[in-house]
Amino acid sequence: MIAARNQPANDAPSLPSIRKPVVSASVARLTLTEFRCYSAARIEARPGAVVLTGPNGAGKTNLLEAISLLSPGRGLRSVRSADFQRIGAHPDAVWGVAATIVGPAGETLVGTGREAGSERRTIQIDGRLGRSQAALAEILSVVWLTPHMDRLFIEGAKARRRFLDRLIFGLDPAHAGRVTRHDLGLRQRARLLAERPGEAAWLDAVEAELAATGVALAAARVDMVGRLAQALDAATGPFPRPIITAQGPIEARLMQEPALAVEDWLKAGLARNRSSDAAQGETQIGAHRGDLGVTYREKNVPAALTSTGEQKAMLVAIILAAARLAMAERGRTPILLLDEVAAHLDEARRQALYGEIGALGVQAWMTGTDRALFDALDGAAQHFSIRDAHITPA
Ligand SMILES: Nc1ncnc2c1ncn2[C@@H]1O[C@H](COP(=O)(O)OP(=O)(O)O)[C@@H](O)[C@H]1O
Ligand SMILES: [Mg+2]
Repeated sequence: MIAARNQPANDAPSLPSIRKPVVSASVARLTLTEFRCYSAARIEARPGAVVLTGPNGAGKTNLLEAISLLSPGRGLRSVRSADFQRIGAHPDAVWGVAATIVGPAGETLVGTGREAGSERRTIQIDGRLGRSQAALAEILSVVWLTPHMDRLFIEGAKARRRFLDRLIFGLDPAHAGRVTRHDLGLRQRARLLAERPGEAAWLDAVEAELAATGVALAAARVDMVGRLAQALDAATGPFPRPIITAQGPIEARLMQEPALAVEDWLKAGLARNRSSDAAQGETQIGAHRGDLGVTYREKNVPAALTSTGEQKAMLVAIILAAARLAMAERGRTPILLLDEVAAHLDEARRQALYGEIGALGVQAWMTGTDRALFDALDGAAQHFSIRDAHITPA
């Protein structure tokens, strides 16, 4: 499937491309207001490599974080909205991030920020307020790799699920809605069990919906991991080619039984576990128990036991495979945010990464303290220097 993207078979007649020349969505302009260390800042960029260099604490990660908020979720640090407000900002001021996104549908204005007088975060698309997180996924997808994620393979499954779900948003924007509905369903059921455990019919309805969403969620993960595994297998170059698997109770059943049977099994399990779930204050089975299994193929060891550098290289390999897959299937790629990644790759892998960014035409925001790390990009990159929350083209 991946190989088919590049060349037609030798004997195939050369046909004009039937795919419209779509461009991947990219951030053309970004404006920050009272966001983290930035009182007011603005940056303009084109597709391709965007390099941000500056000393520690200059505001590089904060800028990437602002971009990450243009996609569903709580951003690359996964924190509450209150943390974004600049410390020292006027008490009446509210933080905001606004961006002009250029993509297949032309220009779209996307904004997010704190609602005046509350802690709530709102989303605005082309001037329409109150849009959902899932609506963002229709406009652009953003995938990131941060130093924080150095522990992705070592810590709990939640962060790996998030990582996988984010990769899926780029191929299947509807997945963002599944994730939101599933979280909501889990919370609804927990509240019902705590406050109105006798409402059997109500619980039946909530659990039926939760089971349907959970199976759809897990099925999308199984499907994505299968296609991603193929894309990784087909990869050439200096990056590792990890073996990846979709793990979890629903995922395992989906490989053996039709989805409807799995849904019935899940519904029955939820009904059976009502009192024990209420007692433990958690839902024992469901799509929130899924995981992404990763093994370092070349050494046949689980990712958690490999070196930090090997883990980073595997994550880059997975992200690049997802970007190639999105390009092959949708003709567009996600925006990449690679925070302090270049510094941890050896020369050959750095070159390969820059080569792929160029080949895919993806907008890749990269940070580092050392400008020399990006020399191999030649003139292909847009360089900015950040110092004390001031951004200047370099
Ligand atoms: N809400 C906030 N208000 C003001 N400053 C903040 C806020 N949150 C973080 N900062 C500061 O922003 C600075 C830049 O952080 P960061 O972007 O992570 O730096 P780096 O360039 O090393 O990636 C840090 O010194 C941090 O203390
Ligand atoms: Mg940083």
